[in-house]
Amino acid sequence: MGLFSLYQELAIDLGTANTLIMHNGKVVVDEPSIVALSIKTGDLMAIGHKARLMDGKTHSNIRTIRPLKDGVIADFEATELMLRGLIKKVGATRGMFAPSLRMMICIPSGSTNVEIRAVRDSAQHAGGREIYLIFEPMAAALGAGLDVEAPEGNLIIDIGGGTSEIACISLGGIVCSKSINVAGDVFTNDIQNYIRQQHGIRIGERTAEDIKCAIGAAVPELENEPEDYIFTGSNMLTNLPQTVTLNYSEIAYALDKSLVKLDNALMEVLEEMPPELYSDVVKNGIYLAGGGALIKGLDQRLSKKSGLPVHIAEDPLRAIARGTCIALKNVGNFSFLMGGENK
Ligand SMILES: Nc1ncnc2c1ncn2[C@@H]1O[C@H](COP(=O)(O)OP(=O)(O)O)[C@@H](O)[C@H]1O
Ligand SMILES: [Mg+2]
Repeated sequence: MGLFSLYQELAIDLGTANTLIMHNGKVVVDEPSIVALSIKTGDLMAIGHKARLMDGKTHSNIRTIRPLKDGVIADFEATELMLRGLIKKVGATRGMFAPSLRMMICIPSGSTNVEIRAVRDSAQHAGGREIYLIFEPMAAALGAGLDVEAPEGNLIIDIGGGTSEIACISLGGIVCSKSINVAGDVFTNDIQNYIRQQHGIRIGERTAEDIKCAIGAAVPELENEPEDYIFTGSNMLTNLPQTVTLNYSEIAYALDKSLVKLDNALMEVLEEMPPELYSDVVKNGIYLAGGGALIKGLDQRLSKKSGLPVHIAEDPLRAIARGTCIALKNVGNFSFLMGGENK
């Protein structure tokens, strides 16, 4: 019933890999950011999980699109289709009386003004009356339970699908930050390449992602070792099926050159930080959020590299959505939000 009241609030984490919508403090949508379109008519065929199942298996009349890539909105039209479709799923705009819909949308911090405008317009077309926007590192920090308005340095690393964002936050603002295009998609790609080169087997993106989630590691030796991953693929030379047993240490090796880039980006932000804020981080530690935070041993690796304590936010895949929800509840208080009522 709550969905049909006259006043609605939605918190939306528009991620490159996953889009989450929270309503009344609960996650009501958690779907991959993918749409499937008919090539002939341009009609929307599927969104989210359903579209993901089609990914890599399409024929000449269906195209799957990830509207957000590398942390930016790559396809405005598809973004709007996806946003509208997902909001419709919540049911908030159903019925004869369009409720007064307030939305807080989390966007990548690399978004340009044109992209920000496009997200606002899409949200408006989807029925939003009051639209606010928040940058991802801020939402991630809120979701990790940090007091972003305190006169204290907080360091957050959000590792999503397209980008990793490292930001130092104090007094409700981003003091220094760095965004790199090394994140989940790159890790998946590294695994694909490794298995092709090392084992001579071609695997698809989805299998590689599966391997990453099961045994993806950032260090070659873990205390809690995950079980080996067994899969069958087509051998590139013989074209016959071949079964391979993968160990997590191999994956740690495959990911190393990308993780070095993350290490270095972190060190750069630490170097740039004003000393007062640095000492806060020494005390409070670094927080990891986003799906990439689940790579086994990543906290250990970054802690060793930086000499600082590293914590993983609770349920890191949902931390950004939670933070966006907190921002929504504090619309009047937080000065770092963008947007407001539409005319
Ligand atoms: N258990 C896991 N181990 C490693 N990577 C993971 C795990 N679960 C999800 N991921 C990766 O996290 C990324 C998605 O994270 P998310 O924070 O939702 O990204 P975005 O904000 O860009 O949508 C994907 O690349 C996904 O493969
Ligand atoms: Mg994200």
